[in-house]
Amino acid sequence: MVKSVVVKIGGSLIFTEKGDVNVDRISQYAQVLSTLKDDGMNLCVVVGGGKAARDFIKVLHKFNVPEAQSDMMGIRVSRINALLLIAALGKAAYPCPPREIPELAKALTTDKIIVMGGIQPGQSTNAVAAVVAEYTRSDMLINATSVDGVYTDDPKEDPNAKKIDELDYDDFQELVIKKGSRAGEYALFDLVALKIVSRSSILTKIINGSDPNNILRAAKGEKIGTTIHRR
Ligand code: UTP
Repeated sequence: MVKSVVVKIGGSLIFTEKGDVNVDRISQYAQVLSTLKDDGMNLCVVVGGGKAARDFIKVLHKFNVPEAQSDMMGIRVSRINALLLIAALGKAAYPCPPREIPELAKALTTDKIIVMGGIQPGQSTNAVAAVVAEYTRSDMLINATSVDGVYTDDPKEDPNAKKIDELDYDDFQELVIKKGSRAGEYALFDLVALKIVSRSSILTKIINGSDPNNILRAAKGEKIGTTIHRR
């Protein structure tokens, strides 16, 4: 089993379809992450902004604020989401989400599970997860989303879209470039995330996080979701 992992949890996964906080799911994530930690895994977790971030950003777009200001809203919401997971993890977690790399460096001197949200405008929390994986020289980046992996097209819009089991960084980039890059609108990975996983050949797995046990399966090296790596 790998020794250090960064887990990105999509913000949409910690809310129900109605928009309530999914307390059961957050508890399950806390349990899975604690199990990995007890097995000796070094863990950093990045939580996304989800629907709340998108809703707030939509309002800011109506007020025609600069994109960077909208991004700051998304960053703050993702940090609040991170605080929910920190609460569920209790003493196992570092008590506050690092807001920049020097704060992460300080948190890494403890033996706690580090949970964070966004860090700077112009990117998504996937980019944060990639930077954290690079900075900590983690063995794997697990990206927990609401779909089973990377598809040839958006599976929510195209029923004929097919899941891809393995991709190299260049093929992945081609898929990512088709997507948008405004605040609150990152569909898959943003270009910053892509550049970082590619330049440091970070083994990346995109999995369905609706079942929190999939995080355990991915960390144990089971074939699950889509694996992005250097061929
Ligand atoms: P994300 O788009 O990363 O959230 O962050 P998410 O929950 O993972 O997205 P889904 O639900 O899985 O699709 C929300 C917003 O916060 C800003 C961006 O505007 C982003 O769209 N953000 C986040 C930043 O500007 N910088 C960061 O470092 C992180």
